[in-house]
Amino acid sequence: MLFDLAALDAQNAYKLLVSTIVPRPIAWITTCDVDGTLNAAPYSFFNAVSGHPPVVAIGIGGRAPGDAKDTGGNIRRTGQFVVNLVSDALAEKMNVTAIDFPKAVDELGQAGLSIAPSAKVRPPRIAESPVALECERLVIVDVGIDRSVVLGTVVAIHIQDDCVLDAARCYVDTPKLDLIGRMHGGGWYSRTTDRFELPRIPLDQWAMKE
Ligand SMILES: Cc1cc2nc3c(=O)[nH]c(=O)nc-3n(C[C@H](O)[C@H](O)[C@H](O)COP(=O)(O)O)c2cc1C
Repeated sequence: MLFDLAALDAQNAYKLLVSTIVPRPIAWITTCDVDGTLNAAPYSFFNAVSGHPPVVAIGIGGRAPGDAKDTGGNIRRTGQFVVNLVSDALAEKMNVTAIDFPKAVDELGQAGLSIAPSAKVRPPRIAESPVALECERLVIVDVGIDRSVVLGTVVAIHIQDDCVLDAARCYVDTPKLDLIGRMHGGGWYSRTTDRFELPRIPLDQWAMKE
């Protein structure tokens, strides 16, 4: 079946995208406003888009035209954010921080989470998260009346000590991070426990098979 996006309203186009592009990693973003007020919220329009330079992309909607979500407004005003990644054990707490609280409410406090200082940016990281990427705004691309894509340069990465296999070689125990992704609909997620290995095929090996 073909869906012509030009003929679909925004909600249906969104539904097709989020029910097919799965699983999506979750950027659990901490930011500070200019006065230092801390904010935290999850965003699954997220991925790494460049290794060198190290760049991540996040799609941030608005509540209504002209009413940016707090994360987007804070990144616009301060240029700094931390992407905390979500393990299976933290799923429910992450979900609490997505509640549409008034701006003054501390989402991390509501979820029973704590913070740890970042090394290179002002917003702290979520202490319980196994990975935190400290980021500086590279560019914000406005893609619609109330949507923007934030590209951020990763300037430092924290990884939980017992998930680092060899620090000198930057080997990480990825399965141990036990990260989750967002699936379809409003509340489906997936674990990263169902894995298989598929090594790349060198051209000469492929040619020998022919
Ligand atoms: C797992 C998950 C992923 C989400 N991903 C996005 C997203 O990619 N973009 C977005 O605009 N909102 C997303 N949301 C909704 C925001 O988290 C929610 O609107 C939140 O209240 C925004 O908080 P803020 O205003 O403090 O930034 C997501 C919610 C959940 C639970």
